[in-house]
Amino acid sequence: MIVKAPGVVKLLGEHAVVYGRLAVAIGINLYAKANVSKTKSKVLAIDAADFQANGSFDRESLEKIYDSYKSKKSIDDYAASQNIPKHLLPFATIASRLLREANLEPTGLKVTLHSGIPLQKGLASSAALCTAFTVALVKAAGANLSDEMIIDIARDGDRIIHKNENAGRIDVSTSFYGGYTTFSTATGAKKQDISKKLRLLVVDTGPKRSTAEPVGHVAQLYQSDRDNVSALFDRINQCALDGIEAIKSSRLKKLGKYMYEDQELLRMLGVSNDALDRAVLIAKDAKAYGAKLSGGGGGGIAIILCGKNKEAIASRLREEKFDVIPISMSAKGAKDYL
Ligand code: MEV
Repeated sequence: MIVKAPGVVKLLGEHAVVYGRLAVAIGINLYAKANVSKTKSKVLAIDAADFQANGSFDRESLEKIYDSYKSKKSIDDYAASQNIPKHLLPFATIASRLLREANLEPTGLKVTLHSGIPLQKGLASSAALCTAFTVALVKAAGANLSDEMIIDIARDGDRIIHKNENAGRIDVSTSFYGGYTTFSTATGAKKQDISKKLRLLVVDTGPKRSTAEPVGHVAQLYQSDRDNVSALFDRINQCALDGIEAIKSSRLKKLGKYMYEDQELLRMLGVSNDALDRAVLIAKDAKAYGAKLSGGGGGGIAIILCGKNKEAIASRLREEKFDVIPISMSAKGAKDYL
């Protein structure tokens, strides 16, 4: 049995979302896969192929993992104190919560994980692997858990991978539901009932910074100039609100306009860089509907919204030596496998 969970790109609202504003993300047609089979042994075998890591966990070791996770002082302490390969710990922790909190039997199974999503590019490969793994165990057990519980348990994996309590709050929900998700701290993640397809390109503009860096930079700016930076957050928020309305009414050129505007605001926050600016400029010159950095910025990926000229825009960017991945919105999420 196989479960596929889509990767995710942020469409609008980065950084301002840290200060309570709205962000929009979509599931994309690149998938992490969890392949589950029954075995005769009394362990949960996990093969994390992308990291050349594999191992087995019996009930007793999962119980122990659960107890130390629940009594941890911090995620850093927890990760450092476990004698388990670091690439397996997120998945073993997920399994331990399913065992103890959902009464689900994870032993007698083998799960092989494979990310069809390029790793560490800002495409949420880790959130998608955690989501696929969690849903695969729930499905194999035939258990009936709420969406909220599955998402929260899958997020633990992403929290451990990124060593950050806030990790996965947008990505895991989006990978679980597929399609469009909005997020704000006040409302949490909400699936949007939109099926509009988008023609998108992901442009790899160079090494991705740790998200903490640009988030820290914006925090400093905010401390030094609250009023003006708040005003920028409000304008980013408006781009996200207007962008969602534009998608709902199928006005993709309008959506693109809000993407360009959001990019300009992110640039003013100091989280773009030369390569991102250049990719956006080339896209604009090649008549893309919209373009902006996606995720934390300071490097990493840009997303380009195209019309029928998607191939021509991709060629222009490739001529300028950018790596380009054509993607589209995936309406299918991991939940569809339950
Ligand atoms: C990173 O993908 C998006 C940011 O807004 C950070 C966050 O929301 O946690 C930059």
